[in-house]
Amino acid sequence: EEKERESLFTLTEFAKKFFINQLHNSEEGNLIGLSYFRERGYTKEIIEKFELGYSPKQWDVFAEYALKNGYTKELLEESGLVNFKEDNKKYDKFRERVMFPIYSFSGRALGFGGRILQNNVKAPKYLNSPENMIYHKSKTLYGLFQAKQHITKKDHCFLVEGYTDVLSLYQAGVQNVVASSGTALTVEQIRLIKRLTENITVMYDGDSAGIKASFRGIDMILEQELNVKVLLLPEGEDPDSFAKKHSATEIEEYIKDNATDFIRFKVNVLLDEAKDDPIKKAALIREIVKSISLIPNIIKREVYVTETSKLLQIREEVLFKELAQLQKSGD
Ligand code: UTP
Ligand code: MN
Ligand code: MN
Ligand code: MN
Ligand code: MN
Repeated sequence: EEKERESLFTLTEFAKKFFINQLHNSEEGNLIGLSYFRERGYTKEIIEKFELGYSPKQWDVFAEYALKNGYTKELLEESGLVNFKEDNKKYDKFRERVMFPIYSFSGRALGFGGRILQNNVKAPKYLNSPENMIYHKSKTLYGLFQAKQHITKKDHCFLVEGYTDVLSLYQAGVQNVVASSGTALTVEQIRLIKRLTENITVMYDGDSAGIKASFRGIDMILEQELNVKVLLLPEGEDPDSFAKKHSATEIEEYIKDNATDFIRFKVNVLLDEAKDDPIKKAALIREIVKSISLIPNIIKREVYVTETSKLLQIREEVLFKELAQLQKSGD
C-alpha cells in the first residue's frame, strides 16, 4: 500500500514535468497553451511558480511517454491519468488543456486541474484528476502550498472559488489566497487553513451561485471556531476578472472598504431578498440566528446577538429565545 502510494507520487511528479515541458518546449504547447496564458495576462513568474503546463491534443502522447519510461499500465490506470479501453487502446485523460498541478501541504503534486481552451463548448470547462490513493479533492486546497507562508505572516487567508482566482490575486500581490476549487467547502479544508490562521475572508464569485456557496461556507467556518468575513465582488466579477481590471492598490482598497463581517453580509443579502415581507423577515431572523448558534464560543455568540439586534431592530431577548430553541432542538 505504502509502496503504491509512493509510485503514484512519482508518476504524478513525472506527469507534472511532462506537462510543463510540453508548455514551454513544444510547438503546440507554445502556440496554444502559452499564448492562452499570455492572453489571460499571466506572467512568466506566475506560470513558473505554479508550474502550469499543457496537455497535447493527440490521444495518447502522455500514455506512450510514461510507458516508455517504465510506468506500468496498472499504475497509469490507478492514477486516472490514462484510460485503457478493452481493445487496449489508451486515452490520456487530459488532452488539449492547460494544466494546473494541485499540491499537498508540503508541496508534492497530487493531481491536476485541466482547463479547456475555448469557452462555450460542450466538454466541461475544467477536468480534475479523479480521486485515488494520494488525491482526495475534499482534503486539498488549490494554492495552499504557495500561499502558506503568506497566510502565516498575514495571519489571514482569502478563500476563493477557482484556480485562476488564486493565480490572478497572487500575481497582483495578494498571496495569502487558496481555492476550494468549485466544490462545497469541507471541514478538512477549513482545518488545513486553521493550522495557519484563524481569520478567513471568503471571496466567492459575484453571482447567485457564489453567494449561496459563501453562505454554506460561512456556517462551516463558524463551526470550526474561525473568524469569517465576506467580500462580495461587483456583480458578474470573480477575483480573477476583478484583479485584472484593477491595480494592486485598488484591490487592497476594495478589500479594506468592502470586507464585511459575516452577520452584516447575511443580513444585507437576506434583507435585500425579504424587502418588507414580514414572513420572509421572520425566516431571515431564524437563518441568522442559526448561523450564530453554530459559533462554539459563548461570548462571541453574545456579541453577535447584540449586533444582530441592532441591525434588524429586534429585541435581544427575542433573539436569545430563538437561539435557545435552536440549541434545544440540537440543530
Ligand atoms: P468557475 O466557473 O467560476 O470558473 O468555477 P473560473 O475559476 O472562473 O475559471 P475561468 O476563469 O473561467 O478559467 C470555479 C471553479 O470550479 C471548478 C474549478 O476549480 C473552477 O476553478 N470547476 C468549474 C470544475 O471543477 N469544473 C468545471 O467544469 C467548472
Ligand atoms: Mn487515502
Ligand atoms: Mn463561479
Ligand atoms: Mn469564477
Ligand atoms: Mn474566472
